[in-house]
Amino acid sequence: MRIGLLTGGGDCPGLNAVIRAVTKSLLGRCQAEVIGIADGFQGLVEGRGRPLDWGAVSGILFSGGTILGTSNKANPLASAASTEAALGWARHWGLDAVVAIGGDGTMQIAHGMSQHGLPMVGVPKTIDNDIEGCEQSFGFDTAVATVTEALERVQTTGQSHGRVMIVETMGRYAGWIALEAGLAGAADIILLPELDYDLRAVIDVCRAREHRERFTVICIGEGAKPAGGSLTIERHIADSPDPIRLGGVAHALREALQPHLKSEVRSTVLGHVQRGGSPTPFDRVLATQFGNHAAHLVAAGRFDHMVTLQGGAMSSIALDAVAGRNRRIPLDHPLLTTAREIGVSLGQA
Ligand code: F6P
Repeated sequence: MRIGLLTGGGDCPGLNAVIRAVTKSLLGRCQAEVIGIADGFQGLVEGRGRPLDWGAVSGILFSGGTILGTSNKANPLASAASTEAALGWARHWGLDAVVAIGGDGTMQIAHGMSQHGLPMVGVPKTIDNDIEGCEQSFGFDTAVATVTEALERVQTTGQSHGRVMIVETMGRYAGWIALEAGLAGAADIILLPELDYDLRAVIDVCRAREHRERFTVICIGEGAKPAGGSLTIERHIADSPDPIRLGGVAHALREALQPHLKSEVRSTVLGHVQRGGSPTPFDRVLATQFGNHAAHLVAAGRFDHMVTLQGGAMSSIALDAVAGRNRRIPLDHPLLTTAREIGVSLGQA
Protein backbone atom coordinates (compact mmCIF):
# COMPACT_ATOMS: atom_id res chain seq x y z
CA MET A 1 0.00 0.00 0.00
CA ARG A 2 1.29 3.47 -0.87
CA ILE A 3 -0.33 6.52 0.73
CA GLY A 4 0.10 10.23 -0.06
CA LEU A 5 0.10 12.74 2.78
CA LEU A 6 -0.37 16.50 2.45
CA THR A 7 -1.09 19.58 4.58
CA GLY A 8 -3.43 22.19 3.05
CA GLY A 9 -4.69 25.64 4.04
CA GLY A 10 -3.11 27.88 6.67
CA ASP A 11 -0.57 26.21 8.93
CA CYS A 12 -1.30 25.41 12.55
CA PRO A 13 0.63 24.13 15.58
CA GLY A 14 0.44 20.33 15.66
CA LEU A 15 0.63 19.63 11.91
CA ASN A 16 4.01 17.93 12.31
CA ALA A 17 2.62 15.84 15.15
CA VAL A 18 -0.09 14.55 12.78
CA ILE A 19 2.42 13.93 9.97
CA ARG A 20 4.57 11.96 12.41
CA ALA A 21 1.68 9.89 13.76
CA VAL A 22 0.13 9.09 10.34
CA THR A 23 3.53 8.07 8.99
CA LYS A 24 4.61 5.97 11.98
CA SER A 25 1.25 4.26 12.18
CA LEU A 26 1.16 3.46 8.44
CA LEU A 27 4.80 2.32 8.33
CA GLY A 28 4.65 0.26 11.50
CA ARG A 29 1.17 -1.25 11.56
CA CYS A 30 0.29 -1.38 7.86
CA GLN A 31 3.75 -1.78 6.25
CA ALA A 32 2.66 1.00 3.89
CA GLU A 33 4.90 3.40 2.02
CA VAL A 34 4.21 7.08 2.61
CA ILE A 35 4.76 9.88 0.10
CA GLY A 36 4.87 13.38 1.62
CA ILE A 37 3.37 15.76 -0.94
CA ALA A 38 4.84 19.28 -0.92
CA ASP A 39 2.80 22.48 -0.42
CA GLY A 40 -0.65 20.95 -0.13
CA PHE A 41 -2.68 20.21 -3.23
CA GLN A 42 -0.23 22.35 -5.23
CA GLY A 43 2.34 19.56 -4.92
CA LEU A 44 -0.20 16.99 -6.08
CA VAL A 45 -0.96 19.06 -9.20
CA GLU A 46 2.75 19.62 -9.89
CA GLY A 47 4.05 16.19 -8.90
CA ARG A 48 6.25 17.31 -6.02
CA GLY A 49 6.63 14.72 -3.30
CA ARG A 50 9.16 12.59 -1.43
CA PRO A 51 9.08 9.35 0.52
CA LEU A 52 8.64 9.74 4.27
CA ASP A 53 10.47 7.16 6.35
CA TRP A 54 11.11 6.83 10.10
CA GLY A 55 14.01 9.27 9.92
CA ALA A 56 11.99 11.93 8.08
CA VAL A 57 9.46 12.17 10.89
CA SER A 58 11.86 11.81 13.78
CA GLY A 59 12.22 14.83 16.10
CA ILE A 60 9.34 16.84 14.64
CA LEU A 61 6.69 16.38 17.35
CA PHE A 62 7.53 19.65 19.09
CA SER A 63 8.01 21.82 16.03
CA GLY A 64 5.54 24.38 14.67
CA GLY A 65 4.56 24.71 11.01
CA THR A 66 4.62 21.77 8.62
CA ILE A 67 7.67 19.95 7.25
CA LEU A 68 5.70 19.37 4.04
CA GLY A 69 4.86 23.02 3.37
CA THR A 70 1.31 24.16 2.68
CA SER A 71 -0.74 26.41 0.43
CA ASN A 72 -4.11 28.02 0.91
CA LYS A 73 -4.42 28.90 -2.77
CA ALA A 74 -3.99 25.56 -4.54
CA ASN A 75 -7.20 23.95 -5.75
CA PRO A 76 -6.94 21.00 -8.14
CA LEU A 77 -10.68 21.29 -8.77
CA ALA A 78 -10.26 24.81 -10.21
CA SER A 79 -9.98 23.44 -13.77
CA ALA A 80 -10.31 20.10 -15.57
CA ALA A 81 -6.62 20.31 -16.46
CA SER A 82 -5.47 20.69 -12.84
CA THR A 83 -7.83 17.91 -11.68
CA GLU A 84 -6.38 15.60 -14.33
CA ALA A 85 -2.83 16.63 -13.41
CA ALA A 86 -3.45 15.77 -9.74
CA LEU A 87 -5.07 12.42 -10.61
CA GLY A 88 -2.23 11.74 -13.04
CA TRP A 89 0.45 12.22 -10.38
CA ALA A 90 -1.52 10.06 -7.93
CA ARG A 91 -1.52 7.30 -10.60
CA HIS A 92 2.17 7.91 -11.39
CA TRP A 93 3.13 7.49 -7.73
CA GLY A 94 0.79 4.50 -7.41
CA LEU A 95 -1.13 6.07 -4.54
CA ASP A 96 -3.89 3.94 -3.02
CA ALA A 97 -5.17 6.90 -1.03
CA VAL A 98 -4.25 10.42 0.11
CA VAL A 99 -4.51 11.72 3.66
CA ALA A 100 -5.24 15.48 3.58
CA ILE A 101 -4.72 17.48 6.77
CA GLY A 102 -6.50 20.81 6.56
CA GLY A 103 -9.43 23.09 7.30
CA ASP A 104 -12.85 23.31 5.73
CA GLY A 105 -11.45 24.40 2.33
CA THR A 106 -9.14 21.38 2.26
CA MET A 107 -12.00 19.07 3.28
CA GLN A 108 -14.11 20.47 0.44
CA ILE A 109 -11.33 19.75 -2.05
CA ALA A 110 -10.72 16.30 -0.53
CA HIS A 111 -14.39 15.46 -1.00
CA GLY A 112 -14.23 16.69 -4.61
CA MET A 113 -11.15 14.56 -5.33
CA SER A 114 -12.93 11.54 -3.82
CA GLN A 115 -15.75 12.15 -6.30
CA HIS A 116 -13.12 12.00 -9.04
CA GLY A 117 -12.06 8.55 -7.85
CA LEU A 118 -9.06 9.35 -5.63
CA PRO A 119 -9.64 7.74 -2.21
CA MET A 120 -9.21 10.46 0.43
CA VAL A 121 -9.11 10.63 4.24
CA GLY A 122 -9.34 14.04 5.94
CA VAL A 123 -7.77 15.22 9.19
CA PRO A 124 -9.27 18.45 10.60
CA LYS A 125 -6.84 21.27 11.30
CA THR A 126 -7.43 24.84 12.35
CA ILE A 127 -6.63 27.16 15.20
CA ASP A 128 -10.14 28.61 14.65
CA ASN A 129 -11.82 25.42 15.96
CA ASP A 130 -14.63 25.96 13.46
CA ILE A 131 -14.75 22.62 11.62
CA GLU A 132 -18.23 21.17 11.48
CA GLY A 133 -18.65 17.82 13.22
CA CYS A 134 -15.43 18.12 15.25
CA GLU A 135 -15.57 19.07 18.93
CA GLN A 136 -12.00 20.34 18.98
CA SER A 137 -9.27 20.62 16.38
CA PHE A 138 -5.58 20.60 17.26
CA GLY A 139 -3.90 24.02 17.17
CA PHE A 140 -6.79 25.67 19.00
CA ASP A 141 -5.41 25.00 22.47
CA THR A 142 -2.05 26.47 21.45
CA ALA A 143 -3.68 29.58 19.97
CA VAL A 144 -5.77 30.07 23.12
CA ALA A 145 -2.60 29.81 25.24
CA THR A 146 -0.86 32.44 23.09
CA VAL A 147 -3.80 34.87 23.23
CA THR A 148 -4.22 34.30 26.97
CA GLU A 149 -0.61 35.25 27.56
CA ALA A 150 -1.06 38.39 25.42
CA LEU A 151 -4.13 39.39 27.44
CA GLU A 152 -2.20 38.98 30.68
CA ARG A 153 0.58 41.15 29.30
CA VAL A 154 -1.67 43.97 28.07
CA GLN A 155 -3.44 43.95 31.42
CA THR A 156 -0.33 45.03 33.33
CA THR A 157 0.52 47.80 30.89
CA GLY A 158 -3.14 48.89 30.67
CA GLN A 159 -3.35 48.95 34.45
CA SER A 160 -0.20 51.06 34.75
CA HIS A 161 -1.39 53.70 32.28
CA GLY A 162 -5.10 53.57 33.03
CA ARG A 163 -5.90 52.65 29.43
CA VAL A 164 -8.41 50.67 27.44
CA MET A 165 -6.48 47.83 25.78
CA ILE A 166 -7.99 45.99 22.81
CA VAL A 167 -6.60 42.63 21.64
CA GLU A 168 -7.78 41.14 18.33
CA THR A 169 -7.75 37.39 17.79
CA MET A 170 -8.02 35.26 14.65
CA GLY A 171 -10.98 32.92 14.14
CA ARG A 172 -12.69 34.22 11.00
CA TYR A 173 -16.46 33.92 11.47
CA ALA A 174 -16.23 31.91 14.71
CA GLY A 175 -15.35 33.37 18.10
CA TRP A 176 -13.97 30.29 19.87
CA ILE A 177 -10.45 31.69 20.33
CA ALA A 178 -11.74 35.08 21.56
CA LEU A 179 -14.21 33.50 23.97
CA GLU A 180 -11.90 30.92 25.56
CA ALA A 181 -8.84 33.16 25.68
CA GLY A 182 -10.99 36.08 26.84
CA LEU A 183 -12.16 34.02 29.80
CA ALA A 184 -8.71 32.58 30.52
CA GLY A 185 -7.05 35.99 30.19
CA ALA A 186 -9.57 37.91 32.33
CA ALA A 187 -10.89 40.16 29.56
CA ASP A 188 -13.54 42.60 30.82
CA ILE A 189 -15.30 42.70 27.46
CA ILE A 190 -15.39 39.88 24.88
CA LEU A 191 -16.73 40.68 21.41
CA LEU A 192 -17.60 37.78 19.13
CA PRO A 193 -18.58 37.32 15.47
CA GLU A 194 -21.67 35.43 16.62
CA LEU A 195 -23.04 38.40 18.60
CA ASP A 196 -23.08 41.84 16.96
CA TYR A 197 -22.02 44.31 19.62
CA ASP A 198 -23.65 47.55 20.71
CA LEU A 199 -20.98 50.29 20.74
CA ARG A 200 -22.95 52.21 23.39
CA ALA A 201 -22.81 49.18 25.74
CA VAL A 202 -19.04 48.87 25.23
CA ILE A 203 -18.57 52.60 25.96
CA ASP A 204 -20.67 52.30 29.14
CA VAL A 205 -18.55 49.43 30.50
CA CYS A 206 -15.30 51.28 29.74
CA ARG A 207 -16.60 54.47 31.41
CA ALA A 208 -17.75 52.62 34.51
CA ARG A 209 -14.33 50.96 34.75
CA GLU A 210 -12.54 54.34 34.22
CA HIS A 211 -14.01 55.36 37.58
CA ARG A 212 -13.47 52.08 39.43
CA GLU A 213 -10.54 50.07 38.07
CA ARG A 214 -9.05 52.73 35.71
CA PHE A 215 -8.34 50.18 32.95
CA THR A 216 -10.28 47.84 30.66
CA VAL A 217 -9.18 44.85 28.59
CA ILE A 218 -11.24 43.99 25.50
CA CYS A 219 -10.76 40.75 23.55
CA ILE A 220 -12.34 40.90 20.09
CA GLY A 221 -12.57 38.19 17.42
CA GLU A 222 -11.54 39.38 13.94
CA GLY A 223 -15.02 38.61 12.58
CA ALA A 224 -16.90 40.72 15.18
CA LYS A 225 -18.88 43.75 14.05
CA PRO A 226 -21.14 46.40 15.57
CA ALA A 227 -24.88 46.03 15.13
CA GLY A 228 -25.72 47.44 11.72
CA GLY A 229 -22.01 47.59 10.80
CA SER A 230 -19.88 45.49 8.50
CA LEU A 231 -16.90 43.14 8.72
CA THR A 232 -13.39 44.60 8.78
CA ILE A 233 -11.69 43.12 5.73
CA GLU A 234 -7.92 43.30 5.54
CA ARG A 235 -7.52 42.03 1.98
CA HIS A 236 -9.09 40.14 -0.89
CA ILE A 237 -7.15 37.21 -2.36
CA ALA A 238 -8.80 36.43 -5.68
CA ASP A 239 -7.11 33.08 -6.35
CA SER A 240 -7.78 31.58 -2.90
CA PRO A 241 -10.69 29.21 -2.12
CA ASP A 242 -11.30 31.58 0.85
CA PRO A 243 -10.92 34.98 -0.88
CA ILE A 244 -11.56 37.23 2.14
CA ARG A 245 -8.99 37.84 4.89
CA LEU A 246 -10.35 39.60 7.95
CA GLY A 247 -8.23 41.85 10.16
CA GLY A 248 -8.01 45.26 11.78
CA VAL A 249 -11.28 45.27 13.72
CA ALA A 250 -9.37 46.17 16.92
CA HIS A 251 -8.08 49.35 15.29
CA ALA A 252 -11.57 50.21 14.01
CA LEU A 253 -13.00 49.73 17.49
CA ARG A 254 -10.24 51.91 18.98
CA GLU A 255 -11.16 54.76 16.61
CA ALA A 256 -14.86 54.36 17.42
CA LEU A 257 -14.29 54.28 21.21
CA GLN A 258 -11.65 56.96 21.70
CA PRO A 259 -13.86 60.08 21.25
CA HIS A 260 -16.18 58.81 24.00
CA LEU A 261 -13.55 58.06 26.67
CA LYS A 262 -11.19 60.03 28.91
CA SER A 263 -8.61 57.25 28.98
CA GLU A 264 -6.43 56.45 26.00
CA VAL A 265 -7.30 53.44 23.88
CA ARG A 266 -4.65 51.11 22.39
CA SER A 267 -5.16 48.19 20.01
CA THR A 268 -3.08 45.09 19.25
CA VAL A 269 -3.67 42.66 16.38
CA LEU A 270 -2.01 39.37 17.32
CA GLY A 271 -2.25 37.93 13.80
CA HIS A 272 -0.05 35.02 12.78
CA VAL A 273 1.71 34.89 16.16
CA GLN A 274 -1.32 32.77 17.11
CA ARG A 275 -0.52 30.20 14.41
CA GLY A 276 3.20 29.82 14.95
CA GLY A 277 5.42 27.98 17.38
CA SER A 278 5.39 24.75 19.27
CA PRO A 279 2.06 23.02 20.03
CA THR A 280 0.93 22.65 23.63
CA PRO A 281 1.07 19.15 25.18
CA PHE A 282 -2.72 18.92 24.72
CA ASP A 283 -2.41 19.65 20.98
CA ARG A 284 0.49 17.21 20.59
CA VAL A 285 -1.62 14.44 22.07
CA LEU A 286 -4.77 15.35 20.10
CA ALA A 287 -2.79 15.63 16.85
CA THR A 288 -1.13 12.27 17.52
CA GLN A 289 -4.54 10.65 18.09
CA PHE A 290 -5.89 12.24 14.89
CA GLY A 291 -2.92 11.00 12.87
CA ASN A 292 -3.12 7.48 14.22
CA HIS A 293 -6.87 7.37 13.61
CA ALA A 294 -6.37 8.56 10.01
CA ALA A 295 -4.10 5.53 9.48
CA HIS A 296 -6.87 3.32 10.92
CA LEU A 297 -9.37 4.80 8.42
CA VAL A 298 -6.95 4.15 5.56
CA ALA A 299 -6.38 0.56 6.70
CA ALA A 300 -10.13 0.00 7.00
CA GLY A 301 -10.78 1.53 3.55
CA ARG A 302 -13.07 4.14 5.11
CA PHE A 303 -12.49 6.80 2.46
CA ASP A 304 -14.24 10.11 1.79
CA HIS A 305 -14.32 10.47 5.60
CA MET A 306 -12.65 12.85 8.05
CA VAL A 307 -11.23 11.94 11.44
CA THR A 308 -13.14 13.69 14.19
CA LEU A 309 -13.40 14.10 17.95
CA GLN A 310 -16.90 13.31 19.16
CA GLY A 311 -17.92 12.75 22.77
CA GLY A 312 -14.23 13.00 23.66
CA ALA A 313 -13.33 9.98 21.48
CA MET A 314 -11.84 9.45 18.02
CA SER A 315 -14.47 8.91 15.36
CA SER A 316 -15.08 9.73 11.70
CA ILE A 317 -17.62 11.67 9.68
CA ALA A 318 -18.43 11.76 5.96
CA LEU A 319 -16.54 14.56 4.17
CA ASP A 320 -19.68 15.87 2.49
CA ALA A 321 -21.21 16.44 5.95
CA VAL A 322 -18.40 18.86 6.87
CA ALA A 323 -17.22 20.34 3.58
CA GLY A 324 -17.99 24.03 3.23
CA ARG A 325 -19.61 24.33 6.66
CA ASN A 326 -18.54 26.44 9.60
CA ARG A 327 -18.94 25.53 13.30
CA ARG A 328 -19.78 28.74 15.18
CA ILE A 329 -20.54 29.33 18.88
CA PRO A 330 -24.20 28.47 19.56
CA LEU A 331 -25.90 31.37 21.34
CA ASP A 332 -26.91 29.07 24.21
CA HIS A 333 -23.32 27.85 24.75
CA PRO A 334 -22.55 27.42 28.49
CA LEU A 335 -19.37 29.52 28.25
CA LEU A 336 -21.43 32.52 27.12
CA THR A 337 -23.63 32.07 30.19
CA THR A 338 -20.60 31.76 32.45
CA ALA A 339 -19.11 34.92 30.98
CA ARG A 340 -22.31 36.90 31.55
CA GLU A 341 -22.79 35.51 35.06
CA ILE A 342 -19.34 36.59 36.21
CA GLY A 343 -19.89 40.08 34.81
CA VAL A 344 -17.95 39.89 31.54
CA SER A 345 -19.61 42.12 28.97
CA LEU A 346 -20.39 40.57 25.60
CA GLY A 347 -21.13 44.04 24.25
CA GLN A 348 -24.88 43.76 24.64
CA ALA A 349 -27.18 46.49 26.04
O1 F6P B 1 -8.29 29.88 9.29
C1 F6P B 1 -7.12 30.14 9.96
C2 F6P B 1 -6.75 31.57 9.88
O2 F6P B 1 -5.61 31.68 10.66
C3 F6P B 1 -7.82 32.58 10.27
O3 F6P B 1 -8.04 32.65 11.64
C4 F6P B 1 -7.28 33.83 9.63
O4 F6P B 1 -8.29 34.75 9.38
C5 F6P B 1 -6.68 33.32 8.36
O5 F6P B 1 -6.37 31.97 8.56
C6 F6P B 1 -5.45 34.05 7.91
O6 F6P B 1 -5.00 33.53 6.71
P1 F6P B 1 -3.64 33.93 5.98
O7 F6P B 1 -2.61 32.95 6.42
O8 F6P B 1 -3.95 33.81 4.53
O9 F6P B 1 -3.28 35.32 6.39
